[in-house]
Amino acid sequence: MADDVRPLIGIIDAHGGKLDLAAYESHDGYAGARSALTEMTPPDVIDLVKAANLRGRGGAGFPTGMKWSFVPQGDDVGLKYLVCNGDEMEPGTFKDRYLITYNPHVLIEGMIIGAFAIQAEEGYVFLRGEYHEPYAELDKAIKEAYAKGYLGKNIFGTDFSFDLRIHSSGGRYICGEETALLNALEGKRANPRQKPPFPPASGAWGRPTIVNNVESYCNVPGILRNGAQWYQDLGSGDDAGTKMYGVSGRVNKPGLWELPIGTTVRQIIDEHAGGMRDGYRLRGFLPGGASTDFLVEEHLDLAMDYGTIQAAGSRMGTGTMILMDDSICPVDMVRNLEHFFAQESCGFCTPCRDGLPWVEELLIDIEEGRAQEGDLELLERNAQFIGGPTNTFCLHAPGAIEPLQSALKYFREDFEEHIKTGKCPYNGRA
Ligand SMILES: Cc1cc2nc3c(=O)[nH]c(=O)nc-3n(C[C@H](O)[C@H](O)[C@H](O)COP(=O)(O)O)c2cc1C
Ligand code: SF4
Repeated sequence: MADDVRPLIGIIDAHGGKLDLAAYESHDGYAGARSALTEMTPPDVIDLVKAANLRGRGGAGFPTGMKWSFVPQGDDVGLKYLVCNGDEMEPGTFKDRYLITYNPHVLIEGMIIGAFAIQAEEGYVFLRGEYHEPYAELDKAIKEAYAKGYLGKNIFGTDFSFDLRIHSSGGRYICGEETALLNALEGKRANPRQKPPFPPASGAWGRPTIVNNVESYCNVPGILRNGAQWYQDLGSGDDAGTKMYGVSGRVNKPGLWELPIGTTVRQIIDEHAGGMRDGYRLRGFLPGGASTDFLVEEHLDLAMDYGTIQAAGSRMGTGTMILMDDSICPVDMVRNLEHFFAQESCGFCTPCRDGLPWVEELLIDIEEGRAQEGDLELLERNAQFIGGPTNTFCLHAPGAIEPLQSALKYFREDFEEHIKTGKCPYNGRA
């Protein structure tokens, strides 16, 4: 990680370990929250986050300051909630787990600032159920923050109060979708809700609610401490700030790095992940988790930012990429992903509940040599029904179908060879 980006989140190389409260404070920790609460008004904070051009790090890249500005303001609005999305069940994604475990205070500080900006008095961190270590670290940090007066009544001697609790998820991928998350938080079945109304107007228990990703909140304290221009200058592409980029697959050093947003795919893989392991060639990669479209070698010099990756036909998503090397059968990899997505459908709408298992079955047939001519066209047609933006109630199904549609585009010859030869050409090659 470059030295000049350390102060922002500052968790990875700077200390090589977990940042407790004393270590975090020694790096100006909670100075951003102090300046927001004691020197600024809530609209000032929202304007600053808008000017910094922070885009949500949960996948869609929605501007954070703009989202906060949708919350109704005024003394008569009543109770509001600030929620952190730490569900992180996207295969290949592990950035939020790392942030919470190694620097829980930067998340807490970001949430205090967010809560002040929208004037929320209660907050929740919705955490993936299996995240036992992050839970323990966050729980400890929240207690430390209460003891220091950073949480609770009259923070920094002001009249602003904020309580923060952790909600450990029952554990489904769909709990990461923000409205399903709110249902789960309320103790209901985790089905997505009809939108509109969007959560800033009507969210948890029908109250105005902001849901942001862990990494999004973690970016906020640095903006308060150093200003919007400083934050904008950290980015090297069209977007501002830094990004937690991750790589998994057959590279020499799989891992996670905080880098200027807009670092190229090649730099991330070669300079930070140490390049492909000897004997393996990169065939394709899912740039932002399992629910994004494959890109291939010709895209290696693209900047990993929202606009560039979208223009190439995929999405930056979570920014944690999964590599596919030449020992991996694309049909089998996609079958594995579709198995996950079919299993995680909430079951509410037919194209997703019935379509994804159907797709999985056909992929198993192709992989095991039982497919026939015409099956690829059938697969493609059904993928279109499942993936259309308005065919399903939430974006689970369109996301689920992205790796399949792009694999049919870039690795079609592999699918065809399975059908022609009646077997998987990769068997025994890995
Ligand atoms: C099926 C599905 C799963 C999702 N999972 C997550 C998740 O685990 N974490 C997350 O932050 N956002 C997830 N999202 C996106 C959230 O709905 C929401 O857009 C995000 O939490 C907003 O935060 P941001 O604006 O800070 O990016 C998911 C969306 C869908 C459709
Ligand atoms: S698309 Fe899938 S996960 Fe989303 S509401 Fe429909 S059935 Fe549920």
